[in-house]
Amino acid sequence: MSERDRIQFMIDTKNKIESAMKTIRHKILVMSGKGGVGKTTVSVNLAVALAEEGFRVGLLDIDLHGPNVVTMTGYSVPPDVDGTKIIPAKTSDNLKVVSMAYFLEEGRPTIWRGPIKISAINQFLGDVEWGELDFLLIDSPPGSGDEPLTVMQQIPDVKVIVVTTPQRVAIEDVRRSLNFALTMNKEVIGVVENMAYLVCPHCGGEIRMYGSGNTQTLSDEFNVPILASVPFDPAVVELSDSGRPIVSWYRGSNLEKVYRDLVAKVIERLEKGEGTRGEA
Ligand SMILES: Nc1ncnc2c1ncn2[C@@H]1O[C@H](COP(=O)(O)OP(=O)(O)O)[C@@H](O)[C@H]1O
Ligand SMILES: [Mg+2]
Repeated sequence: MSERDRIQFMIDTKNKIESAMKTIRHKILVMSGKGGVGKTTVSVNLAVALAEEGFRVGLLDIDLHGPNVVTMTGYSVPPDVDGTKIIPAKTSDNLKVVSMAYFLEEGRPTIWRGPIKISAINQFLGDVEWGELDFLLIDSPPGSGDEPLTVMQQIPDVKVIVVTTPQRVAIEDVRRSLNFALTMNKEVIGVVENMAYLVCPHCGGEIRMYGSGNTQTLSDEFNVPILASVPFDPAVVELSDSGRPIVSWYRGSNLEKVYRDLVAKVIERLEKGEGTRGEA
């Protein structure tokens, strides 16, 4: 490919993404410096809860090496591919899901390096026919690699939710994520503190397994609110592993309530335009 063709290809890609994103009101990237803190769980439950409230929602899984969204939503109908267009299946009334998992054989790893990953993300951003959406939630792999970077570069108005657990090592990594988002001049909606505490089944007391105070320190340091403190509950693992999102399958639980409150907080912050922004 000549230099000229390469530049033209980049311009075409950018234009395609811009036009695909035009019909989507809020784009939210869910990220974290660390793996295993609950990014996918938060993305899935936010998406399902928003869809249940009547919003039109898309859920895009850009964790190419560990695409767990399909398992956690239980939505196994793959998108249709029509020429170069990816047409997501409507997995429930208001929810559409796109993940690399639909295009991989189970158990087979994705062995891709930077440029191929970037082009796969660009395809997900530009070639999926989402139609009109109120929310697009983008679940990312841990860290500040090619995947979240591509999303931030290609979607100028993407906003960020950061997920952490309360222990210092997670907070240290999440500090990097916040600096990354703010350096890219993205609006941070807030932080979700996951696995914050366990409710003792005997006395009902709160056990803070990972300590306390660190998330608040981070919140003060960056002037970003803690949107929710989600308790640890073994039921989450079982429900998530079997494709039953907490918000619809664990009705009446404290967890469901925490998630409903989280949704309300996110909507309120978006409507008031209260995100925290870095210096350009
Ligand atoms: N609040 C919670 N209580 C108990 N287990 C949780 C909670 N949130 C997430 N998990 C479990 O922790 C594991 C990691 O969560 P996941 O969402 O896959 O993290 P990430 O996407 O950040 O790697 C999963 O098995 C999930 O079911
Ligand atoms: Mg994940």
